[in-house]
Amino acid sequence: MHRGKEMGATRNSLMSYPLIHYLSLTILLACSDVSHASRTRYYKFDIIMKNYTRLCHTRSIVTVNGQFPGPKIVVRDEDRLVVKVTNHVKDNVTLHWHGVRQLQSGWADGPAYVTQCPIQTGQTYVYNFTIRGQRGTLFWHAHISWLRVTLYGPIVILPKKGVPYPFPKPYKEVPILFGEWFNSDPEAIIAQSLQSGGGPNVSDAYTINGLPGPLYNCSAKDTFKLKVKPGKTYLLRIVNAALNDELFFSIANHTLTIVDVDASYIKPLDTQILLITPGQTTDVLLQTKIQSPHATFLMAARPYATGQGTFDNSTVAGLLEYPPTSHMKSLPLLKPTLPALNDSAFATNFTSKLRSLANEQFPANVPKHIDRKFFFTVGLGTEPCSKNQTCQGPNGTKFAAAVNNVSWTLPTTALLQAHYFGNWSKVYTTDFPVNPPFPFNYTGTPPNNTFVSNGTKVVVLNFNTSVELVMQDTSILGVESHPLHLHGYDFFVVGQGIGNFDPTKDPAKFNLIDPVSRNTVGVPSGGWVAIRFFADNPGVWLMHCHLEVHTSWGLRMAWVVNDGPLPSQKLLPPPSDLPLC
Ligand code: C2O
Repeated sequence: MHRGKEMGATRNSLMSYPLIHYLSLTILLACSDVSHASRTRYYKFDIIMKNYTRLCHTRSIVTVNGQFPGPKIVVRDEDRLVVKVTNHVKDNVTLHWHGVRQLQSGWADGPAYVTQCPIQTGQTYVYNFTIRGQRGTLFWHAHISWLRVTLYGPIVILPKKGVPYPFPKPYKEVPILFGEWFNSDPEAIIAQSLQSGGGPNVSDAYTINGLPGPLYNCSAKDTFKLKVKPGKTYLLRIVNAALNDELFFSIANHTLTIVDVDASYIKPLDTQILLITPGQTTDVLLQTKIQSPHATFLMAARPYATGQGTFDNSTVAGLLEYPPTSHMKSLPLLKPTLPALNDSAFATNFTSKLRSLANEQFPANVPKHIDRKFFFTVGLGTEPCSKNQTCQGPNGTKFAAAVNNVSWTLPTTALLQAHYFGNWSKVYTTDFPVNPPFPFNYTGTPPNNTFVSNGTKVVVLNFNTSVELVMQDTSILGVESHPLHLHGYDFFVVGQGIGNFDPTKDPAKFNLIDPVSRNTVGVPSGGWVAIRFFADNPGVWLMHCHLEVHTSWGLRMAWVVNDGPLPSQKLLPPPSDLPLC
């Protein structure tokens, strides 16, 4: 297994010591005692510019160690990760370990101006945290502006040493990362959009592991190829690291068995096609044909798009290749069938089939009694155009997005420091609305006034509060699916539906037995989703739409979770190298 720049101490180095005297024997015994113990894994991430060419366009892009996509991190559950990040580029940078619980270690979470100030040019910050009770695939990405378009990579979380997967051991494991390629600078695109109030330019291609594939101009040589052997099981660790697009994915003539989503095991689910939102991860088993099938198989992904705006409607493809069996020069190429770009029926059907494992070894600890219930609308809105400007948003306004009509204002200093040091009142207010400020028929005719309000508002929760949150899409500027991501937590998706949530009828249908556990959930287009979690992780936790354009427009809010009484229930003090604003 390739482990990049990892430098963990291994017990093998002790084993190879030739002279077994008393001392080393003691060490050997001690080591075999702790062979299940966790390790610390060290990585060094240098943020540097590097030229990459795709679709015959060369751009200097922001990378980690010159790699695109970025390096793979491999850890085991219960391991500590220490990632030393040095910023050598002109942009401010932060990195986020998307989906990592960060129990007591909120300082390492990464969203800019939420848990930390950015790492400035020439500065270093060491992200130091431990993986607890997670197995599967997550990913890391930049969490400032749109830099995550090129700054991302997989996090592979293996079970603790000696603990098997709850599914057949795969012959090989392969990360499959979806991304987006822009021929021009994405930082300029979002800056221009925020200035003009209009929608940003869309990407020029989707990518699989950084490669757009043969369906684009000038791209055939940049095609991801998965070379497989017949009669084997492969574990594909699929990540949607795209900026703004949910994706359908399928491999021609092969069934995928989903075994894990967002680093939580699920009941195995067979499917030809899967749907994955930005921010989600999906581990699938791919069983190859018993014999080499005299064909090459296309794997392809294209968007699931529900909004009114323009989107990149292109298709990324890679190849699944078996070893050649005969002298046949060109093998037939089989293509998968993908749903229509707006196939919401597929989305509903697919997402409702995911179930957590919920067995003795991996129980689903779903909150049954709820301390606090929240109802948030999520969707688009508008901001007025300033006096001497012409704006390119709806009816001459500027696009905005909001949760309960509050569009997030990014502060100039980090919320977590303000919370920890008690000077928060200068940075945020604690009056985030727990219900929509003005109720309306959320999925019916939208209100005439679509202006949002602005603020840096949070909800404060006491430690271990059991929370139920219903998120309701709105029809303001069109219904749209929104992949909502909660930092610092996994939550259970206990219910979903189309139309307006009905608080008297819908809760009776909640699944409290084996709901899927996730960190990112699609709020259905023109519908709602209900999630539950225990607020057992003290800190400040961002929640936002993982469509980056919506985040930029303000579709984010934060939860402040207070310390509990025990030492293990308190946020630890900040590291000494925490960046300053
Ligand atoms: Cu993957 Cu706040 O993000």
